This record gives sequence, C-alpha cells and structure tokens, in this order.
Amino acid sequence: MTFVSRRTLLKSAAVFGAYGAGLAVMPRLSQAFASTDPVEIEALSGDVLLDGKQATRGVMRYALAGQTSTDPSPPILRTKRGEAFKARLTNRLDEPTTIHWHGIRLPNTQDGVPFVTQPYVYTGDRFDYAFSPPDAGTFWYHPHCNTLTQMGRGLAGVLVVEDDRDPVFDGEVVLNLRDFRLGGDGQFIEQFKPRDAAKTGTFGTLRTANWQPEPRYDVPAGGLVRVRILAADVTRIYNLRLNGAEAQIIAIDGHPVPERLALDMAVVSPGQRLDLAVRVADSEGMEMVLEDVRPSTPKVVARLRAVGSSLKRNLGDLGPLSENAGVDADLSNATEIPLLLSATAETAARDSICGTLGYSFWAINKVPYPGDTPDPTAPIAELKLGRTYLLNVENVTPHAHPIHLHGMNFKAVSSNKREVQPLVSDTYLVLPDEKVQLALVADNPGDWVFHCHIIEHQKTGMTGYFRVT
Ligand code: C2O
Ligand code: CU
Repeated sequence: MTFVSRRTLLKSAAVFGAYGAGLAVMPRLSQAFASTDPVEIEALSGDVLLDGKQATRGVMRYALAGQTSTDPSPPILRTKRGEAFKARLTNRLDEPTTIHWHGIRLPNTQDGVPFVTQPYVYTGDRFDYAFSPPDAGTFWYHPHCNTLTQMGRGLAGVLVVEDDRDPVFDGEVVLNLRDFRLGGDGQFIEQFKPRDAAKTGTFGTLRTANWQPEPRYDVPAGGLVRVRILAADVTRIYNLRLNGAEAQIIAIDGHPVPERLALDMAVVSPGQRLDLAVRVADSEGMEMVLEDVRPSTPKVVARLRAVGSSLKRNLGDLGPLSENAGVDADLSNATEIPLLLSATAETAARDSICGTLGYSFWAINKVPYPGDTPDPTAPIAELKLGRTYLLNVENVTPHAHPIHLHGMNFKAVSSNKREVQPLVSDTYLVLPDEKVQLALVADNPGDWVFHCHIIEHQKTGMTGYFRVT
C-alpha cells in the first residue's frame, strides 16, 4: 500500500500554501516537518555551478536526504515555535562536522560545539538533534568544526521558526547572503590571508544570495512581502538598502523590534538576520533592488520584481509579529563581567584537529582561545543560573567585531558610541573603540561559547565560553 506521508504534504504546504492566496515566491526547496519525523540532513561535498561559468569543485553543502532539487543551495528548514524539531545529520564529508543552531535557545547538548557540547560527528556517522525552539523568527544553522573551511565552502542555511499568530503576508523571500572565495578559474583559492585575518578578515570574490549572483524573485504587485535576510558570510558586514519600494524593519536577529522603523540603511554583520516587511510596487514589472552600499560603490544583492495586478496592500495594515520572551534582566542586581576584545601577540595556535588556522591574532580578556581541543581552556566566567549579568564589552581594536553568544539572548543597555535600542539579540556588532553593556539572564545551564562571528577572528583567538550552573 502506498500513501502520501505527512512530510510530503507539509512540504508542499510550505512551498505553495503557507501564504494564503499569495504567490509562491520561494521556488526553492523548503520543508516543514511533522513533530515525530526527523529531517534528514546530509553534509556533503561536490561540484556546484556558482559563478555561472564553470563548476566549482569541493563545494560543501547541506542537502535533505533524497533531495532531487536542481537548486544546490542549503535547504530552508521550517518549524514552529514550541514544537519538537528533530534533525538527523549524516556526515558525508571526509572530515568531522557538527551543526550549531545559531540564535536558538536550546539544551546545551544540542548546541553543536565539538568538545564543548558534543563529540565530533565523524565521516559516515550520524547525530540526532532535537529541541523545541522557544522563540519564533529567522534563525540559522551552520557547522562549528573546521568552521572557516566548512562555512567558507558553503555550509550555512536558514532555519525559520514560525508562529501561527504572525500576520499573513502575500509572499516571502528568504535571502542567504554570502561570498565564495574563488579564483578566475572558478575554483576555491586559499580561504584566508594571515595579514587580513589580523585585520578585517579576508573577503570572498563572488557575492551571492542563495548561492546565485544577483538573483531576482517575483513578488505580488502591491503586496506585503516578508523578506528574511541572513548574513551567512564569514567576513562581510553588509550595509543594506532597498530601492524602489517602501520597507520596514520588523525583526532583527529573529526578534521583533519594539517599534518598526522605515528601512533607510541597515547594518547586518556576520551571523545577524534582518526581517523586512516590503510593500511591493504597484505596477507589474517594476523592480526593487536590494543593495549593499559598504564600503562605497553599491553592489546589487538581489532584485524583487512585481508581478500581477496590484493587491493594493498597506504597510499600516500589518499586525504585530507574535512576541518572543525577551530578556528580563534585573539591572539593580546585576554582576558585571569585563570582556576586553583585543589583538594579541602573534603566536602559533595550538594544534587542533578541528581546524586551527595556525595563528593567534585576537584575544578575549587577553586570553587567545587555543582552538577546539579535547582539553578546552577555563571558562571566561562562571555564571549562576537565574542571575542577571552585565557583559561590559570593550573593543580596543581598530576593527568591528560581531560578537555572538550561544544559548541565551542578551539586550544592549548602553554604549559610549551610540544610542542603543534595547534589542534582544544573540549577536552585537561592537565598533572600534566601543564600550557596550549587554544585559543577560543566565537562564540556560551549560557551557556556552562566546565568539566573534568573523570566522577568522573566531579561529585565531577571539573565542571563549561561559559556564552556567
Ligand atoms: Cu553562528 Cu558559534 O556561531
Ligand atoms: Cu572579530
């Protein structure tokens, strides 16, 4: 007897039915999952056409088991707030890997950091991840092992956590932004230069969204479209603007903003997400262009094209996103933790099978993290479960660092450089010479990694972890 599995049904619902009568604007592989059914994810390596001219060898990608899509870019995973999400990773690379679920507050054992929260997943082995995401929004997943190579060669995908109470959009576009570092022959060149790793990080050569240079997506004319943007690049900080349509920022790093702001220009650094509500232009064929204006000459990131007759929707009609838990910090009773981000004397990092770059350039509190070893260094600090902490992060380097905390959210409280919004987040871009206070409730027990998300900085010392007990 044959029958259509629940998963198949959900899969088509996710692609074609999730936005009511709206257009299916994401032709790409997308899947929602029944709670009992693990999503089967393979990490594998192979040839992919990236630059439109010649296949690039040794691209690392995530694929759903049995994926027949002609689109090799990473599957967009979808689940619902509070529902059990299960993913079975099968490692078909010829090196160990893991999956980290960036921005998700989950049990420590599911966090995907080798030697800190789990053993390696070796070639041919599997690992079952399971958690129930407490927050809805745009999150993502990527390896935490030999990270510069594995992410640089492609591994990083979007994880959307939905909430049925969210307003209904007429369409949705998910943009996974990243560069590939290729030579003129379309093949990978060395992933980093030590001189650049000691500065801003080494930039890729081919800019992509969803692994395509300047892709274009059709969206319903006059409609309201949710655009979920992920900066999955290992180095690049984006300054994004959208020409040709009205847009509002509705969420940052997965969390709804307290007040929507018109999108003028938004800074999105490695690891961060930006959710926009876009009011599509009314006339069929009109193009809206998402551009990166950093450092100077604007570069096209992606285009949206209005199709059909205008739905005549209004941004003002859009109801609020369902709320996330927030950070309930008791600032009158907070313990301060100094966190100095600095350059360090250039020494060779200790050997690490999980991908040392062979150098240390950076440090947190003067300690350059020695790399992922079976014998990690002491935690930066030990936190008591349930207490409030103020992370006093001070950047004494001339470079910006998108600093990221696993397992818990924080909220910016004050900065010497700018007016900060009390945004709930997992990643904060610390500017040169900035001192910022991040408030945090230590509500999740375990060892939680804290690192710069410019992966060369992470892998050359700017890493540590907190122990919450
Ligand atoms: Cu997005 Cu430690 O990672
Ligand atoms: Cu950094």
